Amino acid sequence: MSKVLVIEAHPDTDKFSSSLTLGKTFLDAYQEAHPDDEITVHNVSVEMNYPLNATALAIYHKTIDRKPLSEPEQLFEEGRQKWLDEFISADKYVFINPMYNLFIPAEMKSYFDLVMQVPYTFVYTPEGNPQGVLKHKKAIHLQSAGGFYHGESGHPDLSFLDMADTYVKTILSVMGVTDYQALFVEGMDHEPEHAETIETAAFDKAEELAKTF
Ligand SMILES: Cc1cc2nc3c(=O)[nH]c(=O)nc-3n(C[C@H](O)[C@H](O)[C@H](O)COP(=O)(O)O)c2cc1C
Repeated sequence: MSKVLVIEAHPDTDKFSSSLTLGKTFLDAYQEAHPDDEITVHNVSVEMNYPLNATALAIYHKTIDRKPLSEPEQLFEEGRQKWLDEFISADKYVFINPMYNLFIPAEMKSYFDLVMQVPYTFVYTPEGNPQGVLKHKKAIHLQSAGGFYHGESGHPDLSFLDMADTYVKTILSVMGVTDYQALFVEGMDHEPEHAETIETAAFDKAEELAKTF
């Protein structure tokens, strides 16, 4: 049995969302293909409130200086530790988001700020290079964008602009998660007349990928 941790970031779950629908299509097919696996889903845009703020920075520096935490800092740290423990114990990760301004939503960045912690998910080598601690895990990134970035159906390859996927892939690899793939549903805002075709193709691909993930 594998533990699958799903991190969605979407502030509005009431309307149709192509990223969340892509995610749901993937997860339904995944569960069907892997009935014994345990899937945990969080939407960090509505569930998680541990930004890298003054409290988080005070904890960071006090931990390095081996100074005691205040009571509010202790509470904050205990809350964060639960999210971190859950991240470390997962076998597979699914990240689901719309692209916002060429990047992931801020709450997903906050989530990575939380889990990117020495010595739990990475360490520094004596030469000062980051080295991943997580082993034998895999990840998939499911992202929706209004424009075309990944050279679909004759559009130019603008993947260098997709800093969202580059970031997710890079930060995971620094933590040791190098078994990584991505699926994009893109261009529906740019070509609304093709939106349905684009989405259907991406949802079909999601069902296929879920079987072997
Ligand atoms: C604040 C905001 C910023 C956006 N930035 C981009 C962007 O940089 N590039 C892009 O292609 N689409 C951008 N979009 C469009 C969304 O990525 C696109 O509509 C996506 O399909 C939304 O996914 P959803 O249906 O899951 O909400 C942006 C949308 C919003 C609301």
